Amino acid sequence: MVVVDKLSGLQQALKTWRQSSQRIAFVPTMGNLHAGHLQLVTEARQLAERVVISIFVNPSQFGVGEDYASYPRTEQDDIDKLKPLGVDLVFMPSVAEMYLPDAKTTVLVNGISDNYCGAFRPGHFAGVATVVCKLFNMVQPDVAVFGLKDFQQLAVIRTMVKDLNMPVQIVGVDTVREASGLAMSSRNGYLSDGQKAVATSLYQSLLAAKTAVLAGVDYEDVEQQSLLFLQQAGFQPDYFSICRSHDLAKATAADNDLVLLVAAKLGSTRLIDNICFTK
Ligand code: PAJ
Repeated sequence: MVVVDKLSGLQQALKTWRQSSQRIAFVPTMGNLHAGHLQLVTEARQLAERVVISIFVNPSQFGVGEDYASYPRTEQDDIDKLKPLGVDLVFMPSVAEMYLPDAKTTVLVNGISDNYCGAFRPGHFAGVATVVCKLFNMVQPDVAVFGLKDFQQLAVIRTMVKDLNMPVQIVGVDTVREASGLAMSSRNGYLSDGQKAVATSLYQSLLAAKTAVLAGVDYEDVEQQSLLFLQQAGFQPDYFSICRSHDLAKATAADNDLVLLVAAKLGSTRLIDNICFTK
């Protein structure tokens, strides 16, 4: 497994693989790898001859007052976790290697970026779309793997790839959870043991809402009850929304393919989760 921090090192390795027509699968991450990330890597391993992982805490997707400075950086642990998984190359650029100081281009994916997390984190999805576009241009993968955990992010990326004719196949992987149901996340490390116990209510709220939706309860009532449930559990919810899974528009009773999206703060830690199902 090669670890490179320069674009030139990445391109040298890629050139050799491309010359022998080897397919490349790519998994972009911000590091602090957990079992969820490793599941994406395992999936990527099945999809191509070569697997490239990036580890880059992307400053442009963090808002003012968010956790860019404190985001966990555990490079050596991450490398140790990737070695046994048959990864070919880890790309760990610095901020200076990724962004020219005079860069003037931003990728905006309108509409799908605007609501839910986009409304509570202005500029977040522009930062994500721009860095993922740049990484796709650098790696030029045949296939890239993302988690369904960040459902809106995946929808933004799928839209960008379609709209800009990017020659990359996007594969989504199911959310990996703790035994308690809590979705694995690098931000779970911010939680105390007590908060971790409370945090399981996030997934419980999704399961209860799914049951209510399937029982025919009015969607707005379900959303209100879910917000109340989360508040009573100790969260400060940002949103709880019942959406159409294909375009994230608010679902009506006529829609069958649904995703329930939730984001809520526990203390200063913001957690997101979702479940997708067909009525
Ligand atoms: P990060 O939060 O490190 O996540 C990297 C990838 O892992 C994303 O595709 C995310 O959806 C996936 N992932 C995270 N937790 C998961 C879980 N519990 N189960 C399955 N997959 C999970 O998402 C980002 O980084 C960044 O926004 C990035 C795309 C790298 C752009 O900077």
